[in-house]
Amino acid sequence: MSRPLPPGSTIGIVGGGQLGRMLAMCAHRFGYRVAVLTGGGKDTPAGRVAEIEISTAFDDDTGVERFVAESDVITWEFENIDVALAEVARRADVGVHPSGDIIALAQDRGREKLALTDAGAPVAPWRSARTLDELRAAVDSLSVPVIAKAARFGYDGKGQVRIDRHDDVAPAWEQLGGQRLVVESVVPFVRELSVIVARDANETMVDHGVMENHHEHHVLDTTVVPAAIPDTRRAEAIEVARRIAEAWRLVGVLAVEMFDTGSELIVNEVAPRPHNSGHCTIEAAPASQFEQQLRAICGLPLGDGACRPAAMVQLLGDLWTEGEPDWSGALGHRPVHLHLYGKSEARPGRKMGHLTCVGDDPTEALQQAIDARVALSGR
Ligand SMILES: Nc1ncnc2c1ncn2[C@@H]1O[C@H](COP(=O)(O)OP(=O)(O)O)[C@@H](O)[C@H]1O
Ligand SMILES: [Mg+2]
Repeated sequence: MSRPLPPGSTIGIVGGGQLGRMLAMCAHRFGYRVAVLTGGGKDTPAGRVAEIEISTAFDDDTGVERFVAESDVITWEFENIDVALAEVARRADVGVHPSGDIIALAQDRGREKLALTDAGAPVAPWRSARTLDELRAAVDSLSVPVIAKAARFGYDGKGQVRIDRHDDVAPAWEQLGGQRLVVESVVPFVRELSVIVARDANETMVDHGVMENHHEHHVLDTTVVPAAIPDTRRAEAIEVARRIAEAWRLVGVLAVEMFDTGSELIVNEVAPRPHNSGHCTIEAAPASQFEQQLRAICGLPLGDGACRPAAMVQLLGDLWTEGEPDWSGALGHRPVHLHLYGKSEARPGRKMGHLTCVGDDPTEALQQAIDARVALSGR
């Protein structure tokens, strides 16, 4: 393997959001500089803590050329973009991790499911649909209930419609607006899990254990680590994530979202980057998911990812509806870590930050984090 990237080198981050911000903060701790390509935004969460913020579209030639020229290695905090950038980087001999091929695959739910199946990871029964007739046929062959999802560019439940009756098919097609869809059976899960695994160019893999996630309105609300599941199920979840990272020859971090039905695990979706459910690793593990991403892309050995019991609760813009949240009330005499992403405008549903608690017991940590969040709006 080639020599590690020396301190003082510049890490190029594609995307200006909070995942890029937390990676940038970690990169600074390692003595690196950071360049962010935002996709158009100015003063973005990541750009605010970077040496260089390039505020052009992801397919703007001048912006991309400059970003590549500034960067010694490039990684992604966001996968729903044109991966032509990876080709520009290849021509300039700048490393891109994970590869553009993995990003292209992860941004299309259909290609993703095929690649998961190839890797030996179980997915829910699914069909692809390009027309209303194909959608009808898909619903007939899978039988209701199903979820129709835009094949590309969905996040936080956007671009998804649940179909419970045959009468729901036409309105669903109308709502999703004539694009290619992935239609999948609704999985009767008892809990949602995720595993975040880092893999380096030497093929070493390190995970953070298994997270248990709870969503509200399709947005991640709480994460607890370790998940309260039997050890055999835990080992199985970790094995599935490692199998995918290995099969895709990933260099970087892979987050694998899974449904646990009580009798089996089914992979929901993957992200080739750090994940919302891994935020608690910042305090819970010696090396966080961001540090692992940095180490993997810079050619440094992976760190220790083992997590102490911990919990994370999300802070959405809704907390700001009555004015500034009560930070003193939430922080005073509480063992809680506050992360705010530096977003200037708080809109309902927008991820503004999170709270993490670490303790001896994950349930206790979750209760402490929830209590702190209640205190934020407790006036
Ligand atoms: N096939 C399914 N069966 C049951 N629940 C689902 C299914 N697909 C999605 N969901 C629910 O919706 C959430 C968001 O869906 P997901 O496919 O992960 O999209 P996103 O890209 O928005 O995260 C999931 O975490 C889960 O709670
Ligand atoms: Mg998801």
